Amino acid sequence: MKVAFTLNGRATDWSGPPVTRLAAALRDDLGLTGTKVGCDAGDCGACTVRLDDRQVCSCLVAMGQVAGRKVETVESLAGADGRLAALQKSFLDHGAAQCGICTPGMLMAAQDVLANGHAPSRAEIADALGGVLCRCTGYGKIIDAVMACVPKAEAAPPAGAAVGARLPRLDGVPKVTGRDRFGADTVPPDALWIRVVRSPHARAHFSIGDLAPLRARLVAVLTAADVPFNGYGIYPDVKDQPVLADGLVRYRGEAVLALVGARAEVLAIRDQEIPIDWRPEPPLIGIDAATAPDAPLVQADRPRNLLLDGGVKRGDIDAFADCAAVAEGTFETAFVEHAYIEPEAGWARRVGDRIEIHASTQTPYMDRDEIASVMRLERDAVRIVPTACGGGFGGKLDLSVQPLIAVAAWKLGRPIALVYTRPESMAASTKRHPARVKAKFGCDANGKLVACDVHATFDTGAYASWGPTVANRVPVHAMGPYAMPNVRTWGEAFFTNGPPAGAFRGFGVPQAAIAHEAMMDALADELRIDRLEFRHLNALRAGDVTACGQTLEHSAGLAQCLEALRPHWQKARAEIASFNAGGSPRRRGVGIGCMWYGIGNTSMSNPSRMKVGLATDGTLTLFSGALDIGQGSNTIMTQIAADALGLPVMQFALVTGDTDLTADAGKTSASRQTFVSGKAAENAGRDLRQQILRLANAGPDAVLSLMGAALTVRDGDEARTLDLARVGPLMGEGTFDPPTTPLDADGQGIPYATYAFAAQIAIVEVDIELGTVKVLRMVAAHDVGKAINPTLVEGQIEGGIAQGLGLALMEEYLPGRTENLHDYLIPTIGDVPEIECILIEDREPLGPSGAKGVGEPGLVPTAPAILGAIHHATGVRMYRVPVLPHRLREAIVAQGTTP
Ligand code: FES
Ligand code: FES
Repeated sequence: MKVAFTLNGRATDWSGPPVTRLAAALRDDLGLTGTKVGCDAGDCGACTVRLDDRQVCSCLVAMGQVAGRKVETVESLAGADGRLAALQKSFLDHGAAQCGICTPGMLMAAQDVLANGHAPSRAEIADALGGVLCRCTGYGKIIDAVMACVPKAEAAPPAGAAVGARLPRLDGVPKVTGRDRFGADTVPPDALWIRVVRSPHARAHFSIGDLAPLRARLVAVLTAADVPFNGYGIYPDVKDQPVLADGLVRYRGEAVLALVGARAEVLAIRDQEIPIDWRPEPPLIGIDAATAPDAPLVQADRPRNLLLDGGVKRGDIDAFADCAAVAEGTFETAFVEHAYIEPEAGWARRVGDRIEIHASTQTPYMDRDEIASVMRLERDAVRIVPTACGGGFGGKLDLSVQPLIAVAAWKLGRPIALVYTRPESMAASTKRHPARVKAKFGCDANGKLVACDVHATFDTGAYASWGPTVANRVPVHAMGPYAMPNVRTWGEAFFTNGPPAGAFRGFGVPQAAIAHEAMMDALADELRIDRLEFRHLNALRAGDVTACGQTLEHSAGLAQCLEALRPHWQKARAEIASFNAGGSPRRRGVGIGCMWYGIGNTSMSNPSRMKVGLATDGTLTLFSGALDIGQGSNTIMTQIAADALGLPVMQFALVTGDTDLTADAGKTSASRQTFVSGKAAENAGRDLRQQILRLANAGPDAVLSLMGAALTVRDGDEARTLDLARVGPLMGEGTFDPPTTPLDADGQGIPYATYAFAAQIAIVEVDIELGTVKVLRMVAAHDVGKAINPTLVEGQIEGGIAQGLGLALMEEYLPGRTENLHDYLIPTIGDVPEIECILIEDREPLGPSGAKGVGEPGLVPTAPAILGAIHHATGVRMYRVPVLPHRLREAIVAQGTTP
């Protein structure tokens, strides 16, 4: 069918089947990849365009419906000269785009409300954007950007003033124009496609029948036998996950076969044409099944299904006998899905004796090493070229599409692409570890904490992934950010037939925080001490010794966070008392949650190396292997390097991620990039500055300026200009590896060089009759050491709070039941409340300009604060998250009375 319509103001003809979706026609046939696809099912809104001046999900609109109509995509917003529209500029100025995958959809939805011609209220904007999901920002800065769509840019900071400036993200323009190229946007037209055949069973043996008929129709059908080394995993000694299962599957969604061919051909293969004989077995679901005495093994070489255990011991655990108050409880959490709006995607090609992979990732260098291992190639034979990453949150630290596209491209000598569908992404990818945390805390009559005993058990699913990291990190954090003389904590992780549990913003610490914060509430209540003041009394401070025996030399700002929250807390309590006195079936409560978070790997080296280059033509480039997955490290690293060098930040170009062009800056995880790679960037900037000062024979306070290839160095009254064309290229290098030590058998040592601290308060309203909870407001105080870019720091906190809200109230991944975004609910713009961020800067001398990290801390205290608020509102302490309405209603009914 031929369809004539108007596309971005131009008459356009398109031909194809009339059922073709508008999103597919725009992206695949008309080359407009600014429109993104997050679910292909009408759930996420990433594909939002305007059809006859109204927003629609283009993945739901058939091309037959488009004839004679007007379609506008994100490509229509910027002027022909590339000048950004006011709305796009406003998104940049407000930090409203993080990873940017939702941004084109948000912009097009915002056009609806702006087209009304009047100044919209926040509620009207939230309504207009309500169909577009964002997993990064927490929505607040998006609403701010739409409200203030007249740009208010700060002037670009001069040399030496980049750190601390609210600089719009340096990589932001492609995000607000749709030109950022995510994994699915970069696939070459001649690429073959892979369709992965996955297990419908959580545990089964299987045999593959005659593949000849399929092979006759397709280019190839890959099995386990085609993979040179069929095992991968995060740890060098744990390669337990097959690229393609070999006769046995351990979770629903595990990859079994790869069908390779033209896209339409692989999609046309019907399930019944795939010859697999399944022999299902009863799966081990949950911790109890895995630890039962007669439980079969998930991994044959792992007795008791135990992946790892260990703990921290300090002081005398019998000290509970002397406590004036003791609290106990057992808390449970579920599998939680990352739900990044960009499903896993990428493509690979063979270039001579090298393999080149273009994919969405958080960790290019780990991907390089892992692909080399799977392919049995030298590391140098693998090049990783990261695409833009549409959200990761830990889920893109594991391999996904990479090994299959690498194996197929190597074997077939053709470009090979793989783009997960939304259900495939959810079924196949890692999850947050379900946890059972048994906690007992005690304090003296004055409220000083005396002892804690915490036993945390995790369901690590079918494969190890990041399970050891979770089991190691939690015992160090499980007592909470409090001075505690007597400690016994234990973490253990067991294999089950659930999806592999991996890294998800916090590495188990959010689960443990739910327990320790409930204990703080219970002890404070028993002694009739205000909950905030109880925490303030016990907060770890500089000079205190942790349960690992580490003295916190500097930068422990929890007490300052609590002091900043105190007026908000007191005001909220007074207002809530007055509201609840009205006798409404809706009751309000306020809760508080605190956290600490060790920055970087636990007791392990995690170095970063960065480079700053000055070319002979004067091009100034930061070469950064630190992947920006939306959090803003491209901008942060450049701000730091610029001030260290002494040239304006806007003069920098950026080369990022490509393993052939950058040095290894480690993975984007554990909140480490600002602290670790930022310090390396600072050292690289300083190194280059030293080289320049030496060349100019200038002192340390000299002022640099760069005009083309002319580099001028002013030292007092002296000025010397270096001609870079004659001097030759210069390269500054910097490394940093945070100083830690291994932990002994009792968990004693220095697990992290520094810690972030935070406290948040949540104000909620509970409908007692329905069991529903609405979070009305959050106030978050975070000790970040130094806010290199306050806008980006706030963005991390707000996005973390939105995910913490989901953890507390909404999100529970159930294999086979919630494998899409209409059954698995993440917070929408209507669910995330107003958030006020308070930044505390207790400088960390080791960090760049005193900075620490904030990626994970934003999420950790949120669920505890919400649960505390529910308890304050209802008198009910919830021991299981998510607090779904039926669970809360049941608990309220079981309690018998409302407060
Ligand atoms: S891609 Fe269309 S709504 Fe998600
Ligand atoms: S910025 Fe919205 S999903 Fe990442």
